[in-house]
Amino acid sequence: MPTIQEILQNMDYGPAPESTKEANAWLDQHERRFGLFIDNAWTGAGAETFATNNPANGKELAQITQATTDDVNRAVDAARRAQPGWVALGGHGRAKILYALARLLQKHSRLFAVLETLDNGKTIRETRDADLPLAARHFYHHAGWAQLQSEEFADYRAVGVVGQIVPWNFPLLMLAWKIAPALAAGNTIVFKPAEFTPLTALLFAEICQQAGVPAGVVNIVTGDGRTGEAIVNHPGIDKLAFTGSTEVGRIIRKATAGTGKKLSLELGGKSPFIVFEDADLDAAVEGLVDSIWFNQGQVCCAGSRLLVQESVEERFLAKLKARMDNLRLGSPLDKSMDVGALVDPVQHQRITGLVQSALAEGCTVYQPACELPADGSWYPPTLIMGASTSAGVAQTEIFGPVLVAMSFRTPVEAVQLANNTVYGLAACVWSESISLALDVAPQIKAGVVWINTANQFDAACGFGGYKESGYGREGGREGMLEYMTHLSEDARPAAPVIETGKARIKASDEGNPFAIDRTAKLYIGGKQARPDGAYSRAINGAGGQFLADVGEGNRKDIRNAVEAAHKATGWSKASAHNRAQVLYYIAENLAARADEFAARIGAMTGAKNPEREVQASIDRLFTWAAWADKYDGLAHQPPMHGITVALNEPVGVVGIICPNEAPLLGFISLVAPALAVGNRVVAVPSEAYPLSATDLYQVLDTSDLPGGALNIVTGSADELARTLASHYDVDAVWRHDGKAEGCAEVERLSAESLKRTWTSGGKGRDWYDNKQAAGRAVLYHATQVKNVWIPYGV
Ligand code: NAI
Repeated sequence: MPTIQEILQNMDYGPAPESTKEANAWLDQHERRFGLFIDNAWTGAGAETFATNNPANGKELAQITQATTDDVNRAVDAARRAQPGWVALGGHGRAKILYALARLLQKHSRLFAVLETLDNGKTIRETRDADLPLAARHFYHHAGWAQLQSEEFADYRAVGVVGQIVPWNFPLLMLAWKIAPALAAGNTIVFKPAEFTPLTALLFAEICQQAGVPAGVVNIVTGDGRTGEAIVNHPGIDKLAFTGSTEVGRIIRKATAGTGKKLSLELGGKSPFIVFEDADLDAAVEGLVDSIWFNQGQVCCAGSRLLVQESVEERFLAKLKARMDNLRLGSPLDKSMDVGALVDPVQHQRITGLVQSALAEGCTVYQPACELPADGSWYPPTLIMGASTSAGVAQTEIFGPVLVAMSFRTPVEAVQLANNTVYGLAACVWSESISLALDVAPQIKAGVVWINTANQFDAACGFGGYKESGYGREGGREGMLEYMTHLSEDARPAAPVIETGKARIKASDEGNPFAIDRTAKLYIGGKQARPDGAYSRAINGAGGQFLADVGEGNRKDIRNAVEAAHKATGWSKASAHNRAQVLYYIAENLAARADEFAARIGAMTGAKNPEREVQASIDRLFTWAAWADKYDGLAHQPPMHGITVALNEPVGVVGIICPNEAPLLGFISLVAPALAVGNRVVAVPSEAYPLSATDLYQVLDTSDLPGGALNIVTGSADELARTLASHYDVDAVWRHDGKAEGCAEVERLSAESLKRTWTSGGKGRDWYDNKQAAGRAVLYHATQVKNVWIPYGV
């Protein structure tokens, strides 16, 4: 007789298929041909259609319309017409509709889950247990934000008409992440699902009708990148929200440069999964399964780079291989499967090519012996070992079930390896030492860090990237801000007309013969530095008289300034109290020389009451000193046993092109908030009136500001802005000199490294108005939110 152990060992899973009856009936009801959902009505199928297939068997599910530019125009028009009414419905009115959408998603959850599995190839276990509950939760949560909007976001309004474009890896969940906050805030929508997976978005359109979403509020247009392009380029779109490849994200950034369209990008990733020697290794293996084999690894935040401490590497990899041997791959509709089908043969080709390249580079590849179904696109769980840090598979987003393993010796090395990527979406840290994990988490440049857990999501916790993983957040309070405009934006004045670059050359007999020439140099790394090009520019006063020469900064000076800023890491690590003290001290030292600064402003600009600007600058320094230790993050309590801590982190090195209209106040109003939250700054002062900034050198020298925290380069705003926007080690560029074309150029050039931008466009700003020039709306630009997930319990 066999023993119990033998029986258990020989037991296998029987098939547990999910029925497709209802999903097929729904497809049949539509004759497997779909038009577009515009203005609450279905169009017939368009002249051009394409097939959407079941990736698990390659069979066609339905024909889908390729929306044309005309279709997109009609959708945008409908959304525009509907927007005032949607706002007028009020927070409670919108909340009721979002609530109805959440309820309907739950009521029809099985139909949605099966349809998603059919169209995408992901397992029913995941669509049923992850995609659907998370999508419904998003609508519930945002029904709440709609209800609270008038109190919680009293200083904001809806942006207007938003265009939303999503990929195929989480078709319905990405829809929920995009549509729920946009609707809650009072926007109307033109939404495009991915061409591989349009079906659940079309089913969602029916749910909108049932929930009573007014006509034109949600429009769903299907098609490939051409339809996406038509949305991106439509002048009637006020905001674009995109999730997808970094490459298309760049295209969209360039296409929208200078248009004033608000933009959020959620792009690729190559997220590290760090296992320290004191981690619970078995739990970490399970976390890794959820990280890289969840959704066949087709997840932007997949933990695709395993970094394991050398002392436990062998043991951990042995456990991992044993677990891989037990992963079940097969029909996604079978409830007991772990790994489903890839979305399309094109992904199969891409993944195969990357794994081949690893083999060619001498890496070891481990794949469990598993039988791949004959039809459809399948790829086995794969582990790559022995890759160098610069190997293609270690740097490229594979977007498949492929894990690349490397080892490290010390926590310092772990952080270095973790950050050795152009991306910054997510990271996992596994250690039983909370002190080690919480020390490492802030050092990783990523928008989400999971400690001893993986791939957790919740509507209350923002999600989004650093670096080339994009910008903007989805979920939480920060996600709502992406769909709103601060009311002060509507009050901004036109850009003032200020002539620059007409200074005359200093006359030799100018002034007193005993005067000693004072040429303002640049300020780099806490020291005055001669401009690299050894050129100066003369600055004239309001009456045309020569005032002083300033250095003509060039590319090399900017590079030096950026380098100095990068070295000044101490400023970002300084305590908030310490940063506040330094800003107060700058204010104190400025006040001591207020008369001198007022005289300078008067001479440069001809202002009648220049003392007012100096006083306002001192006041503004106090404001930012006050904020330095008060812009705290949040502690969320998502549905897990633990907390998620949302930290407001500095963006990094910020280049700031300052305004002309208030040479001292404008400079202080931008530089001080950036410094207050720990950024390091390369500032280009007003091109027309730079002397208020160069006069500050001595104030800075006596105010305990560490060298390199603030660097000042005078010269041509256009040229210096161009260099900053193209520089790969600059994390954000702010341009506020009211030059529309210059701002557009900054946005265009920023696309290469996907740095964040904050530009004035062709408008000015009332720098005396706290609403326009201070407060949380400014801090939003100076910070990025990192969500650290900390589960607890034993
Ligand atoms: P993609 O970025 O081309 O497509 C995403 C969405 O953008 C789709 O709806 C597509 O129709 C649309 N689109 C394409 N070109 C456009 C354009 N010029 N203007 C506006 N919209 C446009 O991603 P794709 O081709 O589906 O996947 C390629 C690779 O991208 C994947 O292998 C993966 O590495 C990465 N990817 C990353 C995702 C993420 O969540 N980070 C999601 C999907 C893909």
